[in-house]
Amino acid sequence: MNLIKGDDGHLANDDIGEWAKEKHMYLLRYLEISQAARRQFIGEHQGGAAYFDLFCATGKSRIKTTGEWIDGSAIAAWKASVQSKAPFSGVYISDVDEESLAACTARLKKLGAPVFPIHASATVAAKKMASAVNPCGLHLAFVDPYNLISLDFRLIKALSALRHIDLLIHCSAMDFQRNLDMNLISENSDFDALAPGWRENVDTTGSRGKIRENIYEYWKQKVADLGFFTSTDQKLVTGIKNQPLYRLLVASRYPLANEFWSVAVNPQGQGELGF
Ligand SMILES: C[S@@+](CC[C@H](N)C(=O)[O-])C[C@H]1O[C@@H](n2cnc3c(N)ncnc32)[C@H](O)[C@@H]1O
Repeated sequence: MNLIKGDDGHLANDDIGEWAKEKHMYLLRYLEISQAARRQFIGEHQGGAAYFDLFCATGKSRIKTTGEWIDGSAIAAWKASVQSKAPFSGVYISDVDEESLAACTARLKKLGAPVFPIHASATVAAKKMASAVNPCGLHLAFVDPYNLISLDFRLIKALSALRHIDLLIHCSAMDFQRNLDMNLISENSDFDALAPGWRENVDTTGSRGKIRENIYEYWKQKVADLGFFTSTDQKLVTGIKNQPLYRLLVASRYPLANEFWSVAVNPQGQGELGF
Protein backbone atom coordinates (compact mmCIF):
# COMPACT_ATOMS: atom_id res chain seq x y z
CA MET A 1 0.00 0.00 0.00
CA ASN A 2 1.37 3.43 -0.98
CA LEU A 3 2.20 5.89 1.75
CA ILE A 4 1.86 9.62 1.07
CA LYS A 5 1.86 12.77 3.18
CA GLY A 6 -1.56 13.15 4.76
CA ASP A 7 -3.54 16.39 5.06
CA ASP A 8 -2.28 16.65 8.67
CA GLY A 9 1.40 16.25 7.77
CA HIS A 10 1.80 12.62 8.93
CA LEU A 11 2.15 9.68 6.57
CA ALA A 12 -1.11 8.29 5.26
CA ASN A 13 -2.36 5.42 3.11
CA ASP A 14 -3.16 6.24 -0.51
CA ASP A 15 -5.48 4.73 -3.08
CA ILE A 16 -7.76 2.81 -0.81
CA GLY A 17 -11.15 1.49 -1.91
CA GLU A 18 -14.39 3.31 -1.17
CA TRP A 19 -15.56 0.20 0.67
CA ALA A 20 -13.23 1.02 3.60
CA LYS A 21 -15.85 3.57 4.64
CA GLU A 22 -18.47 0.85 4.90
CA LYS A 23 -16.14 -1.29 7.05
CA HIS A 24 -15.60 1.63 9.43
CA MET A 25 -19.30 2.39 9.50
CA TYR A 26 -20.05 -1.09 10.92
CA LEU A 27 -17.20 -0.82 13.42
CA LEU A 28 -18.48 2.55 14.62
CA ARG A 29 -22.09 1.40 14.79
CA TYR A 30 -20.96 -1.56 16.89
CA LEU A 31 -19.05 0.75 19.23
CA GLU A 32 -22.02 3.03 19.59
CA ILE A 33 -24.44 0.18 20.28
CA SER A 34 -22.11 -1.47 22.82
CA GLN A 35 -21.21 1.75 24.66
CA ALA A 36 -23.35 1.08 27.75
CA ALA A 37 -21.80 -2.37 28.25
CA ARG A 38 -18.31 -0.89 27.86
CA ARG A 39 -18.99 1.96 30.27
CA GLN A 40 -19.50 -0.51 33.11
CA PHE A 41 -15.83 -1.51 32.86
CA ILE A 42 -14.40 2.01 32.74
CA GLY A 43 -13.31 3.99 35.78
CA GLU A 44 -11.46 3.47 39.00
CA HIS A 45 -11.38 -0.12 40.35
CA GLN A 46 -12.82 -1.47 37.08
CA GLY A 47 -11.11 -3.90 34.73
CA GLY A 48 -10.98 -1.42 31.86
CA ALA A 49 -12.12 -1.57 28.25
CA ALA A 50 -9.22 -1.71 25.80
CA TYR A 51 -9.32 -1.53 22.03
CA PHE A 52 -6.85 -3.62 19.99
CA ASP A 53 -6.19 -2.71 16.36
CA LEU A 54 -3.86 -5.45 15.15
CA PHE A 55 -3.43 -4.15 11.59
CA CYS A 56 -3.67 -0.44 12.32
CA ALA A 57 -1.99 1.09 9.21
CA THR A 58 -1.34 4.87 9.40
CA GLY A 59 -4.65 6.04 10.83
CA LYS A 60 -5.50 8.16 7.78
CA SER A 61 -6.29 7.23 4.18
CA ARG A 62 -7.18 8.83 0.89
CA ILE A 63 -9.93 7.19 -1.15
CA LYS A 64 -8.78 6.36 -4.64
CA THR A 65 -11.90 7.31 -6.58
CA THR A 66 -12.86 10.51 -4.77
CA GLY A 67 -9.66 11.82 -3.16
CA GLU A 68 -11.55 12.06 0.14
CA TRP A 69 -9.49 11.79 3.34
CA ILE A 70 -10.86 9.45 5.98
CA ASP A 71 -9.73 8.40 9.44
CA GLY A 72 -8.23 4.95 9.81
CA SER A 73 -9.95 2.38 12.02
CA ALA A 74 -7.94 3.11 15.20
CA ILE A 75 -8.51 6.87 14.98
CA ALA A 76 -12.18 6.51 14.12
CA ALA A 77 -12.68 3.98 16.96
CA TRP A 78 -10.96 6.19 19.52
CA LYS A 79 -12.99 9.26 18.49
CA ALA A 80 -16.23 7.25 18.63
CA SER A 81 -15.43 5.93 22.10
CA VAL A 82 -14.80 9.49 23.33
CA GLN A 83 -17.94 10.78 21.67
CA SER A 84 -20.05 8.09 23.34
CA LYS A 85 -18.55 9.01 26.72
CA ALA A 86 -17.10 5.52 27.08
CA PRO A 87 -13.47 6.15 26.03
CA PHE A 88 -11.25 3.10 25.76
CA SER A 89 -8.97 2.67 28.74
CA GLY A 90 -6.15 1.68 26.38
CA VAL A 91 -5.66 1.73 22.61
CA TYR A 92 -3.24 -1.03 21.59
CA ILE A 93 -2.11 -0.83 17.98
CA SER A 94 0.25 -2.91 15.89
CA ASP A 95 1.51 -3.07 12.34
CA VAL A 96 4.47 -4.73 10.67
CA ASP A 97 5.21 -1.50 8.88
CA GLU A 98 7.12 0.74 11.28
CA GLU A 99 6.32 4.02 9.47
CA SER A 100 2.61 3.26 9.44
CA LEU A 101 2.66 2.41 13.13
CA ALA A 102 4.55 5.63 13.96
CA ALA A 103 2.03 7.75 12.02
CA CYS A 104 -0.94 6.08 13.70
CA THR A 105 0.69 6.49 17.11
CA ALA A 106 1.32 10.20 16.51
CA ARG A 107 -2.29 10.75 15.45
CA LEU A 108 -3.67 8.97 18.50
CA LYS A 109 -1.32 10.86 20.83
CA LYS A 110 -2.48 14.15 19.33
CA LEU A 111 -6.04 13.15 20.23
CA GLY A 112 -5.00 12.34 23.81
CA ALA A 113 -5.56 8.59 23.47
CA PRO A 114 -3.77 6.22 25.88
CA VAL A 115 -1.93 4.54 23.03
CA PHE A 116 0.37 1.50 23.24
CA PRO A 117 2.11 0.85 19.91
CA ILE A 118 3.62 -2.56 19.17
CA HIS A 119 5.85 -2.98 16.15
CA ALA A 120 5.33 -6.64 15.36
CA SER A 121 3.33 -9.06 13.27
CA ALA A 122 -0.23 -9.42 14.46
CA THR A 123 0.40 -12.92 15.81
CA VAL A 124 3.15 -11.64 18.12
CA ALA A 125 1.27 -8.43 18.95
CA ALA A 126 -1.90 -10.36 19.89
CA LYS A 127 0.00 -12.20 22.62
CA LYS A 128 1.50 -8.97 23.94
CA MET A 129 -1.85 -7.18 23.94
CA ALA A 130 -3.65 -10.04 25.66
CA SER A 131 -1.10 -10.15 28.45
CA ALA A 132 -0.92 -6.34 28.85
CA VAL A 133 -4.55 -5.72 29.78
CA ASN A 134 -6.57 -6.55 32.88
CA PRO A 135 -8.19 -9.99 32.35
CA CYS A 136 -11.27 -8.73 34.20
CA GLY A 137 -11.89 -5.96 31.65
CA LEU A 138 -14.12 -6.01 28.57
CA HIS A 139 -11.96 -5.66 25.48
CA LEU A 140 -12.51 -5.35 21.75
CA ALA A 141 -10.13 -6.44 18.99
CA PHE A 142 -10.50 -5.20 15.41
CA VAL A 143 -8.79 -7.76 13.18
CA ASP A 144 -8.49 -6.21 9.74
CA PRO A 145 -5.86 -7.89 7.55
CA TYR A 146 -5.63 -7.57 3.75
CA ASN A 147 -5.63 -11.26 3.14
CA LEU A 148 -6.28 -14.72 4.53
CA ILE A 149 -2.67 -15.60 5.30
CA SER A 150 -2.50 -12.68 7.75
CA LEU A 151 -5.62 -13.92 9.51
CA ASP A 152 -3.33 -16.40 11.20
CA PHE A 153 -5.24 -18.66 13.55
CA ARG A 154 -2.53 -18.22 16.21
CA LEU A 155 -3.59 -14.61 16.68
CA ILE A 156 -7.19 -15.58 17.40
CA LYS A 157 -5.94 -18.24 19.80
CA ALA A 158 -3.72 -15.69 21.57
CA LEU A 159 -6.65 -13.30 22.00
CA SER A 160 -8.83 -16.12 23.31
CA ALA A 161 -6.67 -16.13 26.46
CA LEU A 162 -8.84 -13.20 27.54
CA ARG A 163 -12.19 -14.25 28.90
CA HIS A 164 -14.04 -11.06 28.04
CA ILE A 165 -13.00 -10.11 24.56
CA ASP A 166 -15.05 -9.49 21.45
CA LEU A 167 -13.40 -9.84 18.06
CA LEU A 168 -14.56 -7.98 14.99
CA ILE A 169 -12.97 -9.88 12.15
CA HIS A 170 -12.43 -9.00 8.50
CA CYS A 171 -12.22 -12.20 6.46
CA SER A 172 -11.15 -11.61 2.86
CA ALA A 173 -13.81 -13.02 0.52
CA MET A 174 -11.77 -11.71 -2.42
CA ASP A 175 -8.84 -13.89 -1.41
CA PHE A 176 -11.17 -16.88 -1.06
CA GLN A 177 -12.49 -16.20 -4.57
CA ARG A 178 -9.30 -15.36 -6.42
CA ASN A 179 -6.83 -17.72 -4.85
CA LEU A 180 -8.89 -20.79 -4.08
CA ASP A 181 -7.34 -23.09 -6.68
CA MET A 182 -3.79 -22.07 -5.76
CA ASN A 183 -4.46 -22.54 -2.05
CA LEU A 184 -5.97 -25.97 -2.63
CA ILE A 185 -2.93 -27.32 -4.48
CA SER A 186 -0.06 -25.37 -2.97
CA GLU A 187 2.25 -26.97 -0.42
CA ASN A 188 2.40 -23.59 1.32
CA SER A 189 -1.29 -22.79 1.27
CA ASP A 190 -2.62 -19.65 2.97
CA PHE A 191 -5.28 -21.94 4.44
CA ASP A 192 -2.56 -23.57 6.60
CA ALA A 193 -2.27 -20.31 8.57
CA LEU A 194 -5.96 -19.48 8.46
CA ALA A 195 -7.38 -22.85 9.40
CA PRO A 196 -4.75 -25.39 10.49
CA GLY A 197 -5.91 -28.96 9.87
CA TRP A 198 -8.08 -28.05 6.86
CA ARG A 199 -6.37 -30.65 4.66
CA GLU A 200 -7.53 -33.53 6.87
CA ASN A 201 -10.92 -32.11 7.79
CA VAL A 202 -12.44 -30.23 4.87
CA ASP A 203 -14.29 -31.82 1.97
CA THR A 204 -12.67 -30.24 -1.09
CA THR A 205 -14.94 -31.87 -3.67
CA GLY A 206 -17.89 -30.16 -5.33
CA SER A 207 -18.30 -26.69 -6.73
CA ARG A 208 -15.88 -23.89 -5.90
CA GLY A 209 -18.60 -22.12 -3.97
CA LYS A 210 -19.19 -25.24 -1.90
CA ILE A 211 -15.46 -25.71 -1.21
CA ARG A 212 -15.13 -22.07 -0.11
CA GLU A 213 -18.11 -22.50 2.15
CA ASN A 214 -16.65 -25.73 3.62
CA ILE A 215 -13.32 -24.06 4.43
CA TYR A 216 -15.04 -21.03 5.88
CA GLU A 217 -17.30 -23.22 8.04
CA TYR A 218 -14.30 -25.24 9.23
CA TRP A 219 -12.52 -21.99 10.20
CA LYS A 220 -15.60 -20.83 12.10
CA GLN A 221 -15.76 -24.15 13.90
CA LYS A 222 -12.14 -23.72 14.99
CA VAL A 223 -13.01 -20.26 16.32
CA ALA A 224 -16.00 -21.79 18.13
CA ASP A 225 -13.72 -24.46 19.63
CA LEU A 226 -11.90 -21.61 21.41
CA GLY A 227 -15.17 -20.80 23.15
CA PHE A 228 -16.41 -18.05 20.84
CA PHE A 229 -19.81 -17.79 19.20
CA THR A 230 -19.50 -16.37 15.72
CA SER A 231 -22.22 -13.93 14.77
CA THR A 232 -25.16 -15.19 12.78
CA ASP A 233 -24.98 -11.97 10.77
CA GLN A 234 -21.86 -11.97 8.62
CA LYS A 235 -21.80 -8.87 6.56
CA LEU A 236 -20.67 -9.46 3.01
CA VAL A 237 -19.26 -6.25 1.60
CA THR A 238 -19.08 -6.07 -2.18
CA GLY A 239 -17.21 -3.83 -4.62
CA ILE A 240 -18.53 -1.55 -7.36
CA LYS A 241 -18.92 -4.51 -9.74
CA ASN A 242 -20.71 -6.41 -6.99
CA GLN A 243 -17.67 -8.64 -6.50
CA PRO A 244 -17.37 -10.07 -2.95
CA LEU A 245 -14.63 -8.22 -1.05
CA TYR A 246 -14.83 -9.33 2.54
CA ARG A 247 -17.01 -10.66 5.27
CA LEU A 248 -17.19 -8.94 8.62
CA LEU A 249 -18.24 -10.94 11.62
CA VAL A 250 -18.09 -10.83 15.37
CA ALA A 251 -16.71 -13.59 17.60
CA SER A 252 -17.56 -13.40 21.28
CA ARG A 253 -18.30 -15.57 24.27
CA TYR A 254 -21.44 -13.56 24.92
CA PRO A 255 -24.68 -13.72 22.92
CA LEU A 256 -25.19 -10.00 23.58
CA ALA A 257 -22.30 -9.20 21.22
CA ASN A 258 -24.14 -11.11 18.51
CA GLU A 259 -27.25 -9.04 19.17
CA PHE A 260 -25.25 -5.80 19.03
CA TRP A 261 -23.64 -6.89 15.78
CA SER A 262 -26.96 -7.81 14.17
CA VAL A 263 -28.17 -4.28 14.79
CA ALA A 264 -24.84 -2.76 13.71
CA VAL A 265 -24.79 -4.43 10.29
CA ASN A 266 -28.44 -4.07 9.54
CA PRO A 267 -29.18 -0.36 9.34
CA GLN A 268 -32.22 -1.29 7.23
CA GLY A 269 -33.00 -4.49 9.09
CA GLN A 270 -31.59 -6.73 6.34
CA GLY A 271 -29.26 -9.74 6.82
CA GLU A 272 -27.10 -11.52 4.27
CA LEU A 273 -24.51 -14.25 3.95
CA GLY A 274 -23.05 -14.86 0.52
CA PHE A 275 -20.46 -16.92 -1.25
C1 LIG B 1 -6.10 -3.29 5.50
S1 LIG B 1 -4.75 -2.40 6.22
C2 LIG B 1 -5.47 -1.97 7.74
C3 LIG B 1 -6.40 -0.81 7.63
C4 LIG B 1 -6.87 -0.26 8.95
N1 LIG B 1 -7.39 -1.30 9.83
C5 LIG B 1 -7.96 0.76 8.71
O1 LIG B 1 -9.13 0.37 8.55
O2 LIG B 1 -7.63 1.95 8.68
C6 LIG B 1 -3.63 -3.63 6.64
C7 LIG B 1 -2.36 -3.20 7.41
O3 LIG B 1 -1.81 -4.41 7.93
C8 LIG B 1 -0.40 -4.33 7.91
N2 LIG B 1 0.06 -5.74 7.93
C9 LIG B 1 0.16 -6.62 6.91
N3 LIG B 1 0.50 -7.84 7.38
C10 LIG B 1 0.58 -7.73 8.73
C11 LIG B 1 0.86 -8.64 9.80
N4 LIG B 1 1.09 -9.92 9.54
N5 LIG B 1 0.85 -8.19 11.06
C12 LIG B 1 0.58 -6.87 11.34
N6 LIG B 1 0.33 -5.96 10.37
C13 LIG B 1 0.32 -6.38 9.10
C14 LIG B 1 -0.07 -3.56 6.67
O4 LIG B 1 1.21 -2.93 6.82
C15 LIG B 1 -1.24 -2.55 6.61
O5 LIG B 1 -0.87 -1.34 7.20
